[in-house]
Amino acid sequence: MCGIVGCVLKNKEVAPILFDSISKLEYRGYDSIGLATGHNNKINLKKDAGKVAEVDAKLDLKDLDGTYGIAHVRWATHGDPSKVNSHPHLNNDGTIAVVHNGIIENYLSIKKELESEGYDFVSDTDTEVIPNLIDKYMKTGLDLTQAVRKVINVIEGAYALAAISVSEPNRIVATRKDSPLIVGIGEEEYFIASDSPAILKYTNNIAYLEKDELVILDEDGVSFLDENDNLIGKDVEVIQWSPDMAEKEGFPHFMIKEINEQSTTIRNTLNEKDNVQFIVDEIKEDINKVLFVACGTSYHASLTGKYLIESLAEIQTEVLLASEFKYSASSLNEKTLVIFISQSGETADTLKALDIANKSSKTLAIVNVRGSSATRRADYTIYTQAGPEIGVAATKTYIGQLVAIYLLASLLGDNENLIEKLYDVPRYIEEVLAKEDIIKHFSNKFKKLSKVPKYIKPILSMPHAYKGLKNNFRHVEDMFFIGRGYSYSIALEGALKLKEISYIHAEAYAGGELKHGPIALIDDDVPVVVLAPPGRDHRKIMSNLEEVKARGASIIGIGAIGDEDLISKSDYNFLINSEVDELIAPLVYIVPLQLLSYYVSVARNLNPDKPKNLAKCVTVE
Ligand code: F6R
Repeated sequence: MCGIVGCVLKNKEVAPILFDSISKLEYRGYDSIGLATGHNNKINLKKDAGKVAEVDAKLDLKDLDGTYGIAHVRWATHGDPSKVNSHPHLNNDGTIAVVHNGIIENYLSIKKELESEGYDFVSDTDTEVIPNLIDKYMKTGLDLTQAVRKVINVIEGAYALAAISVSEPNRIVATRKDSPLIVGIGEEEYFIASDSPAILKYTNNIAYLEKDELVILDEDGVSFLDENDNLIGKDVEVIQWSPDMAEKEGFPHFMIKEINEQSTTIRNTLNEKDNVQFIVDEIKEDINKVLFVACGTSYHASLTGKYLIESLAEIQTEVLLASEFKYSASSLNEKTLVIFISQSGETADTLKALDIANKSSKTLAIVNVRGSSATRRADYTIYTQAGPEIGVAATKTYIGQLVAIYLLASLLGDNENLIEKLYDVPRYIEEVLAKEDIIKHFSNKFKKLSKVPKYIKPILSMPHAYKGLKNNFRHVEDMFFIGRGYSYSIALEGALKLKEISYIHAEAYAGGELKHGPIALIDDDVPVVVLAPPGRDHRKIMSNLEEVKARGASIIGIGAIGDEDLISKSDYNFLINSEVDELIAPLVYIVPLQLLSYYVSVARNLNPDKPKNLAKCVTVE
């Protein structure tokens, strides 16, 4: 949901570094990009709608004079993705520039007031009120820091924002509330950024800003003010992520690189075992209920958690979408452990729910991004050791979340055997990845024809003759994924991946639920992915397979090597080591589905790293 960066250097041109840093945050928004630098009493500004590379090719964003500046990538909320709505935004006389991530909820009334005082507005954004408010306050004699403080006393909503003014050269003032902002402290180079990949190349020394604290970056260093404007010291954490982790390292996209990193993620997250044991020892005797709260992919990981904790630890477990939490969380008490799962640790709905739960219950965050808001607000934290995830679609962080959940459920249920099994999972995943060409080849069937060859035209003109061809998925716009028990959450996650990066409408159903309605949609144009790992539910999911096959669906079966029943009844299949039973299937069976969504996206000439309308971190409700 937008990325911001600011940088002050000593005697060095800032634009190339600013551009490099903001490019690393493109996963947070790719509707527009802009940079503003200060030089010789003037703000230099370049910005436009479009992806980073497109705008750079047009404007040469690295070519701006100045040693300090701010930059922004946008995921549009107020106002369409146009040049005029792009950040940075300026005050009327172009002497102050601001970048902002979040939403100013009361911007309309502020705008009206400013207009009545003679200020003009050129954009439809909520942000444009900020530079003009700063201008208004500075005209009363306040300095930039005092003016920013005054602004945050007036604006309501969520923000991480940074401002520069030509009247205070080589200075950035930044602050945050409900949107992330970190401070990077290098050698004669000082940064603020929405996330660490922006600055890892320059420094690993990171400090975290709390709500309504101010940070002032000067060419000589960094100072922090608390919410009462007292000068404060801050702990500086040296984070271990290296800049390479945020590079593609030879892969065509981050998503496929991250899919390939999943066995490493599992090994690293298993190292959290002692931390999980510590948490379990602290809470086990005091809880009689678990509630998971999360969004999207993290919600799907939570569903696996419900099945695991209920069956292994016999503790009643519920799962809620974070955005629905406030409507149904009245039964929380001190005996409830509320677990928040979030890759970013900054998802607005999840944080809102965490604040509510903190009032009555013990809270645990399972998070990937170190130092993120969720980790600072929850009673306990388990880190998914996935390293930075840049692809917008979550893959390796989902696997990390699952491992954390498996550890927690096993330790709550004293099931060391399951933990032993987890150490084999990286090998199973590597076996799947070694056969990725099968999925790549299959995914090519989804490629759309750019030009219909002449000889196909007569067939195309016959209704259904072309569409019904079982080995041809070019026309496919709807798919189903079915599973039971542990595999139901895999189906949900597989369908979400396909939707978000391939733009194919995909529905996931519990196998037993199909005949209660959705089976009406099945015909020979709707392929069905059937998740059929070995175990208790295998026979039942095979019956569900028969039901959809009888309605004409092409079957894509995902099951165990040697499962002759599945092989004979599927039109296509992908087979996995038969040691992977239904209990650990979520950790392995999701991988072919991630690969399917990735390769279908590529086959359809889409960019899997930057799906339309999405952003990596959703910091608005
Ligand atoms: C899907 C995806 C999203 C996120 C969701 C929650 O691939 O990435 O559905 O899972 O936006 O984000 P976090 O986990 O950061 O709270």
